[in-house]
Amino acid sequence: MQNNSTLVIRNIGNLYGISTSPYSFKKGKDLSIVEQLSDAYLYVKDGKIADFGPDASCTLSDVQSIDAKGGIVCPTYIDTHTHIVFATSREEEYVMRLKGASYEAIAESGGGILNSATKLGNATFDDLYASAKQRLNSMIAMGTGVVEIKSGYGLSFDSEIKMLEVIKSLKANSDAHIKATFLGAHAIPMEYKSRRSDYIDVLINEMLPYIAEHELADYCDVFCDKGFYTVEETRLILTAANKYGLKGKIHANELAVSGGVQVGIECGALSVDHLECTTQAEWDALLASDTIPTLLPGTSFFLDIPYGEARKMVDYGLGIVLASDFNPGSTPSGNMAFLQSLACLRMKLLPTESFNACTYNAAAALECEDEYGSITKGKVANIQVMTSINNLNQLPYYYGQNPTDITILKGKIQ
Ligand code: NIG
Ligand code: FE
Repeated sequence: MQNNSTLVIRNIGNLYGISTSPYSFKKGKDLSIVEQLSDAYLYVKDGKIADFGPDASCTLSDVQSIDAKGGIVCPTYIDTHTHIVFATSREEEYVMRLKGASYEAIAESGGGILNSATKLGNATFDDLYASAKQRLNSMIAMGTGVVEIKSGYGLSFDSEIKMLEVIKSLKANSDAHIKATFLGAHAIPMEYKSRRSDYIDVLINEMLPYIAEHELADYCDVFCDKGFYTVEETRLILTAANKYGLKGKIHANELAVSGGVQVGIECGALSVDHLECTTQAEWDALLASDTIPTLLPGTSFFLDIPYGEARKMVDYGLGIVLASDFNPGSTPSGNMAFLQSLACLRMKLLPTESFNACTYNAAAALECEDEYGSITKGKVANIQVMTSINNLNQLPYYYGQNPTDITILKGKIQ
């Protein structure tokens, strides 16, 4: 990480993601519109985007200069859904699934989230911080600059708070802009299996008040799905969170048409995420609401489950966000370039649509659209440089790679 926050990027083949008009979440046909300038320069001053224009018109001197070598420059990604604080990987479950076990069957037998919770309970703050920081840095190196991070592998007062404290430290010690989400309702802990409502009491009456008082979370999540939390339980938890000013960003409709979309909308959730299983009823409800549909193609890829119907949703007039879901069970990757390849190949989005869904639109799903998500004068200089490709279609086309050579966060080269 370097300490300068003033620099100029020259010789940009294509500068993508420009926005000069007031923010407007992109829906339907507009999702494919990406404003661009060829043969450009971009000036970053004091950590902010100060100017940009035709390279030939650039008169700046005595400023640190980066040569984009005719490649792409664009805003960094905004990854609105991750679980990067965890104690250990879970490749043993991966092998079980390769042999035919389902994600749900592994979860029911005490694996899955409960497996991660046991391990997290035994992990120290320092170890959790160090491994999460490493994951965060790997995401930054792949072009991500704003990240939402969830708790949810604690599932007890002490461990959930430990996770949220780790996220708080990450916020304080990274140039990435981070939002924290409380996901105590990620699974029902084993010891509460026959008395679920007791755990929900702990969530609502012990954890939430403490988290709100100590400002440890920006949002609240519930895994509203078959085998996890019911619609009624989700409503109780989100209603309690709303009283503390924590909006919902929930897991819904990953394993079944769960009613999660509707209860999220009813409770004013900022976003409903996953949506592998939806019907027209969910799309109609979303179309009539401000809740943002967020799809996670990496999860479908890794669990080998159906992909969310992004193409149909966008054609129906919806705007969508794409996020990684980086976690040890269902998506052990934060590679947003690969995610765009999946969104194009498997969800039939266009490269311009998938790009907007993880930059411009994603900003709204973390309420940071005034500062991040586009090349706009005055916005925070979160910029990535890709010298090996020169147009946006090549970004998802070269799948499985990391085309990001340089990530600049708050004007600082990382
Ligand atoms: O978003 N679906 C729920 N939570 C995570 C997976 C959690 C896990 O398996 O550890 C997800 O896919
Ligand atoms: Fe998730």
